[in-house]
Amino acid sequence: MFTQIACLLLYVQVSLGAATSGSLLSSPTTVSPSTHSSSTASITISVPTSTATPNPGGASFPPVGSITRNFSPTGLDQLWNVVGPVESPPFTTTVEPQTPVILPSPPPTLYPSFYANRPKDILSDYKYPKGFIFGLDTAAYQVEGATKEEGKGPSMWDWASRQPGAIADNSTADIADLQYYLYKEDVARVAALGVKAHSFSISWARILPFGTADSPVNQQGIDHYADLIQYHLKSGVEPIATLFHWDTPLALQAYYGGFTSGQIVDDFVHYAKTVFAAYNGTVKTWFTFNEPRVFCGQVASYPFNITYAPGVNTSTAPYQCSYNLIHAHAGAVKAFREMNIVGEIAFKSDDFVGTPWRKNTTDDAAAVERHGAFQIGVFADPIYTTGDWPTILKDTLPPEYLPRFTEEEKREILGSADFFAIDAYRSQYISAPDEGLDACLSNGPSDPEWPQCNTIREFDSNAMWAVGASADVGAPWLQDTSRFFRDAMKEIHRRWPTQKIYVTEFGFAQPFENERTELYRIKEDTDRTNYLMSYLGEMLLSIHEDHIPIMGAFIWSMVDNAEWGQGLSTRFGVQYVNYTTLERTYKRSALALSEFFEAHLQ
Ligand code: NOJ
Repeated sequence: MFTQIACLLLYVQVSLGAATSGSLLSSPTTVSPSTHSSSTASITISVPTSTATPNPGGASFPPVGSITRNFSPTGLDQLWNVVGPVESPPFTTTVEPQTPVILPSPPPTLYPSFYANRPKDILSDYKYPKGFIFGLDTAAYQVEGATKEEGKGPSMWDWASRQPGAIADNSTADIADLQYYLYKEDVARVAALGVKAHSFSISWARILPFGTADSPVNQQGIDHYADLIQYHLKSGVEPIATLFHWDTPLALQAYYGGFTSGQIVDDFVHYAKTVFAAYNGTVKTWFTFNEPRVFCGQVASYPFNITYAPGVNTSTAPYQCSYNLIHAHAGAVKAFREMNIVGEIAFKSDDFVGTPWRKNTTDDAAAVERHGAFQIGVFADPIYTTGDWPTILKDTLPPEYLPRFTEEEKREILGSADFFAIDAYRSQYISAPDEGLDACLSNGPSDPEWPQCNTIREFDSNAMWAVGASADVGAPWLQDTSRFFRDAMKEIHRRWPTQKIYVTEFGFAQPFENERTELYRIKEDTDRTNYLMSYLGEMLLSIHEDHIPIMGAFIWSMVDNAEWGQGLSTRFGVQYVNYTTLERTYKRSALALSEFFEAHLQ
């Protein structure tokens, strides 16, 4: 009965890095069929006699619950043995950068002025409001490297990146950018561009190698982020911290199934409290979770689909995960407020509501509602507007899939965010499924589009023009849809009104960038530059003409990094990273951002 949902989720299986979009709760029709077996629905959790659970894709993990809690060095070794050998970094001390960083001379103009403005001349009558934050993003797993250094415990991504077929280019993030030791250089380089903030994530397994509330804190991990935060402050780059960007401590998955178990809630809240206490007063803007919808889609997919709590299966995993995660979020925010932590806190939503593909089809309008509910409303409704799941989800998914909240739980969840944060990479057309909305709903789990029952359309319904230029093949979900940004933000603000919005991620993977070998060609990231400049211009209009209270723009990403299931070869950085020498190089987009914000911040 659950097989179809499993099929749907396999998109994430082959394309874990397609994170921002098209994964968990959406059903993009452009998705290519997975090469992995779709029989994951038959996999059950528990198990057995062997020391590792295999699955059809070839991954293996110890049966959940089979590793006992042993918080000694031997216990840590046992956890690392689940991952296997790890590549050591070429050096293990923090590098002092050469400062001041001198910016290269600006690139020649991209186009004649009769065709397009220079960055500084875009909508030159408009400025961003005072206090507006211009930031760049990273996330621990994707940039830090130093995977096994300084007492860190393994994360589920350290394990996942070694499972057969899980990473498109077979790379790991063992070293990646080695930002763990090169953070000073990275901060100095972006400070030189005029960047005002860095949104990074803290690795739970560095702070608590065994993850749990009763396990020891790793002081080296605490000290590392304290130093990193201080260096940001000294450099005039505001440190903005996310507690969880998908890197679940492996211990928690092995002990009880990670976010598919309710046990995660207390452990997450304890971790959050530890971090709040350590960095109170230095970090002012916090995020609990990055893109929980995408994360809970990963949890349901290869290779994670053999690591569930008892009673959870591939079909129910995304919703059990969502339920536990939302409690973890609310618990952490409650602690934040009880501890009187100075600052603001929210979580990072992602995606878009959408525009009906065909104007005269009521089914498409209804499909848009479903898209908004499954992609954003799933977490935003409970937290911002009702305390409860969207009605569309409750009408579609029985409680065995989507556990219901009690009245008391609703009260705790509602209002557990101080502002709205959205990773708004794109906005596309939405239609009813080909078989029709009613048919999809009445088919239920046997319909491949169920439970979302909506379809993303990447081209218009009249002449089949693409909604925008396509990004690299490693990010098949992404098109440059800047022209839809204003409508997308209006919809978000109308549905989940708040006093302040941060656009916490947007960015573009330049087509074929990884295929290029000459640095001068790599640096010329024209499509990314066009995307960013158009997007930021639309953002000015959104603020000034639509009165949307956007107060921050964060670009993914500060540097090229490990793009989850796509590995190191899908590049999102505004700086190129040579993964052999670890040298960073500004791309055109970095300098365009610098010029743009110099002219538009006040
Ligand atoms: C959003 C995710 O937060 C980030 O980790 C990912 O790399 C980007 N999207 C690009 O896919």
